[in-house]
Amino acid sequence: MNNFEFFNPTRIVFGEGEISRLSSLVPEKARVLVLFGGESARKFGTLDEVKAALGDRHVSFFGGVEANPKYETLLNAIAQVKDENIDFLIAVGGGSVIDGTKFVAAASRYPSEPMQMLKKAGSDLKEAIPFGAVLTLSATGSEMNKISVITYAAAKAKMAFFSETVFPQFSILDPVKTFTLPPRQIGNGIVDAFIHVTEQYLTYPVNAKIQDRFAEGILQTLVEEGPKTVEQPDNYEVRSNLMWAASQALNGLIGVGVPHDWATHMIGHELTALYGLDHAQTLAVVLPSLLEEKQQQKQSKLAQFAERVWGVQQGSEAEKAAQAISLTREFFESVGVKTRLSDYQLDETCIDPLIKHLSDHGMTRLGEHRDIDLDACRRILQRSL
Ligand code: NZQ
Ligand code: ZN
Repeated sequence: MNNFEFFNPTRIVFGEGEISRLSSLVPEKARVLVLFGGESARKFGTLDEVKAALGDRHVSFFGGVEANPKYETLLNAIAQVKDENIDFLIAVGGGSVIDGTKFVAAASRYPSEPMQMLKKAGSDLKEAIPFGAVLTLSATGSEMNKISVITYAAAKAKMAFFSETVFPQFSILDPVKTFTLPPRQIGNGIVDAFIHVTEQYLTYPVNAKIQDRFAEGILQTLVEEGPKTVEQPDNYEVRSNLMWAASQALNGLIGVGVPHDWATHMIGHELTALYGLDHAQTLAVVLPSLLEEKQQQKQSKLAQFAERVWGVQQGSEAEKAAQAISLTREFFESVGVKTRLSDYQLDETCIDPLIKHLSDHGMTRLGEHRDIDLDACRRILQRSL
């Protein structure tokens, strides 16, 4: 196991009806801005519940944070924070709204231009407005991590930043709030959480038994419960397990002391930025091809994955690895997320622009061995057609 340090200060308040806890979680004198997305939070009554729980506090709203939250949109929220002397933020939504709120929290207290903060990936952040989240879509783990991914639409670029100043103070996870998700977002959530685990697990062995077994537990839970969620949207027990699995997948715990890959995410971000695929759709397209490309290097962990997650006991290590990759692809398809570029009306003409963007963004040495160069990315994308 490699050396590591672990820190995660986010308080999780889990369960049905827990939005009412906002009354005690938010400071009494706070001037609050509630950020939300398109219409789901209003339509399904979550905003009303949040407002009621906040009682007499000063509460304003900022709606319209889009999926893949845009820098350009969020600048308006920063202006509102300044105009109204806001000192506490609440994100009501999925990863996009939470990531957007992290950006507003950090950029509002940043002494220079918000774009500078993004360009430095948050490395010189000293403070942020405190904030909490009410999660309505389990997928990204943003509710319990220090990561934010912002889209700079003008340059068709997804820019991530990281800082301990943007850990949510608390996140309320009420599984009932996810009952209203459309099938596409349920599938997306399952695939995103699954691939957050594989990015930290399907690398090479470092004898990190706890991390491996936690990772395998999350993957098994997603495989068992994922399809049930699609079939039984209002099954509370199933939703609860899915929700907690997704938070655990990217709250830092399984990633301590082990190598990380993240190449699937980096290639996927360019696919969203250029062609508008949902985040999880891009991952479902890239991961199986990337695993095929790197099958030999990753063989030992792929075989372990085959045995422990998929129950494959027959065959050589190489055969088990190959079977794990096919089962993974089938699983994504089974929860409704397609795994080929052609499923999203993209053909090989999409590849050159993707490679150019990867190059422009310095994504030229990806993967746990930093050996996924632009040629390897091209081969991966060609396999994904
Ligand atoms: O806008 P509304 O109307 O609210 O609809 C949303 C949105 O269109 C809808 N939705 C959310 N909760 C709902 C609901 N619809 C019905 N009922 C509900 N309860 O779902 C749509 C998608 O929401 P979004 O927040 O975009 O999805 P997700 O949680 O998958 O977030 C994706 C974003 O997170 C970033 C991605 O890059 C992408 O920008 N990521 C963030 C990470 C992090 N912070 O750690 C890591 C991830 O790898 C990822 O990169
Ligand atoms: Zn992701």
